[in-house]
Amino acid sequence: MVVHGILRKLFFYLCIRCHIAHQINFSVKMQILDGNLTARTIKGEIAQEVASMVEQNGKRPHLAAILVGENGASMTYVGAKVKACEEVGFTSTLVHKSSNCTEQELLDIVHTMNNDSEIDGYIIQLPLPAHIDDKKILQAVNPKKDVDGFHPENIGRMALQLPCFLPATPAGIVTLLERYNIPTTGKHCVILGRSHIVGMPMNLLMQRNAQPGNCTVTVVHSKSHGVADLCRQADILIAAIGQPEFVKADMVKEGAVVIDVGIIRVPDNSKKTGFRLCGDVAFDEVAPKCSFITPVPGGVGPMTIVSLLSNTLLAAKNNFIPKN
Ligand code: GUN
Repeated sequence: MVVHGILRKLFFYLCIRCHIAHQINFSVKMQILDGNLTARTIKGEIAQEVASMVEQNGKRPHLAAILVGENGASMTYVGAKVKACEEVGFTSTLVHKSSNCTEQELLDIVHTMNNDSEIDGYIIQLPLPAHIDDKKILQAVNPKKDVDGFHPENIGRMALQLPCFLPATPAGIVTLLERYNIPTTGKHCVILGRSHIVGMPMNLLMQRNAQPGNCTVTVVHSKSHGVADLCRQADILIAAIGQPEFVKADMVKEGAVVIDVGIIRVPDNSKKTGFRLCGDVAFDEVAPKCSFITPVPGGVGPMTIVSLLSNTLLAAKNNFIPKN
């Protein structure tokens, strides 16, 4: 009986040891890519540059944002951008029009911003109401003030690796990879989604001859066959499709780097707001398989905002595209 009791204790002791060991192994293996922390560091660097600009010539970078309509998520994002400007010492201007603003009215605002020498850069928060042609609006932005990097001139320059404004979300992801010293050369990067804001520019940035870059890139989209198989081949998986928890554990290779761009409001009555934020990746089941993973929120989102600030700083210094 005594021997039986000792064996029982030994058995439970070993079980607990294994459990702890598994947990230690888990936490050593998987690392969170902390967008909040990285963005805070970069904001500190930007704030220092602003302080010396102000000291040298009294100039503060000035970012303007145009918001059309009452989309809750867009209002939150624009609010966060304005707040970030304050944090680093930028001047900011918000122009908020109602959803019945006409295309011509918006074009007039764009022309005013193009000609306002006090504004270094500006953005038009997307999506725009359906009656406005966003391509027409984005093409009217002066490329030298296009801190979102959405103008064809900036996208063309990005493709050719010429100095330009990089779109904020892909630039933020590249910066995160860089700051965490994640090797990318020769890796297979699979991008879920081909949007003009994320998937398409992400493809250009990950395949270019640069560090981070030099990946073999596969872009997976709504018409792709064998999506799960393609995802499983990824050393670096970037999910940008806006579908809550689309990426499951069985779609991810052991040791992969997973970047979650999705930030979707999912109804949740237990929350004061009535929703919770959800990524494109089923974090709880995917994270244990990863070497690195971004959380939602607190991963890509803050990096997007800080990239917009970096672009605005460049615009204010006026040195990203040679003057002609
Ligand atoms: N909507 C979603 N992402 C973005 C972005 O990066 N810039 C703008 N202007 N609108 C967005």
